[in-house]
Amino acid sequence: MLDAKVAKLLNEQINKELYSAYLYLDFSIYYEAEGLDGFANWYMVQAQEERDHAMLMLQYLQNNGAKVSLEAVAKPDKTLASLMDPLKMGLEHEQYVTSLIHNIYDAAYSVKDFRTMQFLDWFVKEQCEEEKTADDMIKKMELFGGDSKGLYSLDSEFAARVYTAPSLVL
Ligand code: FEO
Repeated sequence: MLDAKVAKLLNEQINKELYSAYLYLDFSIYYEAEGLDGFANWYMVQAQEERDHAMLMLQYLQNNGAKVSLEAVAKPDKTLASLMDPLKMGLEHEQYVTSLIHNIYDAAYSVKDFRTMQFLDWFVKEQCEEEKTADDMIKKMELFGGDSKGLYSLDSEFAARVYTAPSLVL
């Protein structure tokens, strides 16, 4: 059986990941309305990845006999006033999610829950990748997003992102 605190944190993380999906859907909707279909696509794919993260947590809890209880998902509350806003808010959000994952890892570590630590290893790495990608997008936007040709080119790049299922198998 999982330690009660670890199980509770993992259960809460399901909600946080679903909120992430909701937040990125909101970003996608914003860019779509701005006519940037590529940016919209990028965040739509990101929302799908976040849903996957939630499903992995849910499945992990079920596989380990822990109770899963779903809570309401909060409404995305970011005010998006410029094309750069979602990119910067996305990085901040990923840094926050990293802190949450580390907090669960810390709880697992303190009770010698090696199984959960191993499960979370994938998420620790994933967060590194997500923060790096978010940071790269900001840098590209700063460098190339200032004129219409650069923006068009970035939008075309982001349009090419396709969804792939997570590499983690439980
Ligand atoms: Fe599920 Fe973007 O972390």
